[in-house]
Amino acid sequence: MKKLTTFLALSLALSVQAQQHVMTVDVSKPTAQIQPDMYGIFFEDINFGADGGLYAELVKNRSFEFPQPFVGWVPFGDVSIQKENPAFDRNPHYVRVINDGRLLRAGLDNEGFRGIGVRQGEEYRFSFYARTPDAKPMKLSIELVNSKAQNLLKKEITVSSGDWQKLTTVLKSPFTDPHARLRIVLESRGTVDMDHISLFPVDTWKGRENGLRRDLAQALYDLNPGVFRFPGGCIIEGNNLETRYQWKNSVGPVENRPLNENRWNYTFTYKAFPDYFQTLGLGFYEYFLLSEDLGAEPLPVVSCGLSCQYESNEVVPMDELGPYIQDALDLIEFANGPVTSTWGKLRAEMGHPEPFNLKMIGIGNEQWDAVYVERLEAFTKAIRAKYPEIKVIGSSGPSASGDKFDYLWPEMKRLGVDLVDEHYYMAPDWFFGNAARYDNYDRKGPKVFAGEYASHDRSTKKDNNFLAALSEAAFMTGLERNADVVHLATYAPLFAHVDAWQWNPDLIWFDNLRMMRTPNYYVQQMYGMNPGTDVLSLKMDGKAVAGQDSLYATAALNAPTGEIILKLVNAASKPAEVQIDFNGLKKRQLASGSCTYLQSCDWRTVNTLDEEAIVPRVRPVPAEGQSLKLTLEPRSFGVYRLQVKGK
Ligand code: AHR
Repeated sequence: MKKLTTFLALSLALSVQAQQHVMTVDVSKPTAQIQPDMYGIFFEDINFGADGGLYAELVKNRSFEFPQPFVGWVPFGDVSIQKENPAFDRNPHYVRVINDGRLLRAGLDNEGFRGIGVRQGEEYRFSFYARTPDAKPMKLSIELVNSKAQNLLKKEITVSSGDWQKLTTVLKSPFTDPHARLRIVLESRGTVDMDHISLFPVDTWKGRENGLRRDLAQALYDLNPGVFRFPGGCIIEGNNLETRYQWKNSVGPVENRPLNENRWNYTFTYKAFPDYFQTLGLGFYEYFLLSEDLGAEPLPVVSCGLSCQYESNEVVPMDELGPYIQDALDLIEFANGPVTSTWGKLRAEMGHPEPFNLKMIGIGNEQWDAVYVERLEAFTKAIRAKYPEIKVIGSSGPSASGDKFDYLWPEMKRLGVDLVDEHYYMAPDWFFGNAARYDNYDRKGPKVFAGEYASHDRSTKKDNNFLAALSEAAFMTGLERNADVVHLATYAPLFAHVDAWQWNPDLIWFDNLRMMRTPNYYVQQMYGMNPGTDVLSLKMDGKAVAGQDSLYATAALNAPTGEIILKLVNAASKPAEVQIDFNGLKKRQLASGSCTYLQSCDWRTVNTLDEEAIVPRVRPVPAEGQSLKLTLEPRSFGVYRLQVKGK
């Protein structure tokens, strides 16, 4: 028994003993340039990401255009839907409320998006369009009702015009509640017509009306994204051509942007969201503006004339593709054209006379087969002819390998597109196992845009857990090492409402008042904040570090500061001792640096709205001479920024 105990103790001691490794970084000649916009974000209106999420509107179905026009509303008294002499021709329905005195009152409640989130002391801008056929002022009470049905705030507003007029008032909430309701009550006897009933926090991102939820936009800003891909994803394709995303419907006065069905409304029959529509209130102008606010290159994606090939698979005949191609050309004009051009003028009228400096455009999302290539070719020719400076991005289909992928890549080379969009939603093992995926990619062909990827840990129902995050960090060392061929990378999807999601995992989760950054978010942030400018050769036993002994590594130079940036993953359950020798420093020496790191011994750790268990921590790194000794903690990802002194 004693022998067994001694043996076990010895084994334990050996198993926790760190492994020794020597890596060499060559600082004398960078091997590739890292695109300044390499790490970015991909936004799609999925999981209530736009309406009910980033777009700060708190009223659902504000224009009564849902197919069942009272969805989101609870009318009481004499309330009906009308469409004669509407306020907005493309959103013609409105609500008529009659208080004939027989009922105590008449009006309607709005439930918001799984409730309306309000905070005590914060201000909310209520606005609507109203008219009264009665020749006297009509009083309405605008109320905030808490989740216990108490109407704790009432504000009066008077409608006195027979013509449609916009009326506004600011409500200061006396309570905090993620599940409040908005109530509108007609207090006077008579009739009032109302449309585009809206409630926004006054405190939006950058204080803009028709703005974005401040906390969510701030979370995007904090990623320091280099590129911003929008608006999808599958929603650009639509379940059918009619419901594809049409950017022209998403610009101009917000009240007159026609409603579109959201493609994620009924995609998963076991998880249907019949109340999921797109108001397009967050439209292309707002997307471009957000790109600018974030300091990210805008990357719009447009329909190529194919609806989702998994779903309806509708195809626009080649001789009818003209308007689709024209939409893409007009979009470039909207973004970059002079204010004297048709679409540049609209941009200026919307508030942005300066161009948005668009540099690239995606044609189609996850498309495949000759039917796609033929259409992409027509788009590419037209774009190259009119805007040769714009980069064209083609698709490699819905997955990381297989027939579609193998067919499309050579076709993309033949067409000479600038970048090819690759998508992979794969298991953590795949991510760990594919850190060398791009090491042997053709350097002469189009560049890679890893446009959608996420590690899916099916053993935990695809949680945003630490295993998934660490596997992404490991994989991304391979993206960075191959920055000469991988030019852009964006995780997907970006947002999910905890009470209304269709797809997981997602980078940022939120409810009506709070948000949570996942471990995956912090991996993206650590890359986004520390990209460096040039790849440096980093080798272990003469090879790139892509999984040997569960280690993953990449090195970069940040030319403006002269710092060396290391990204190191130890995916093993024991620490790793690593010696890193820096060749080519000549007389220069390492000076102290810092390490920002994520670590957890438990793969399954997740962050929640109540507590972010996994957050980056920072520690100093003592460094001197031309070599560094590090102990990499088990299951950790660290970004080391090392200063170099001397000449
Ligand atoms: O990111 C979610 C979906 O995944 C995207 O809409 C689509 O492109 C992919 O299939």
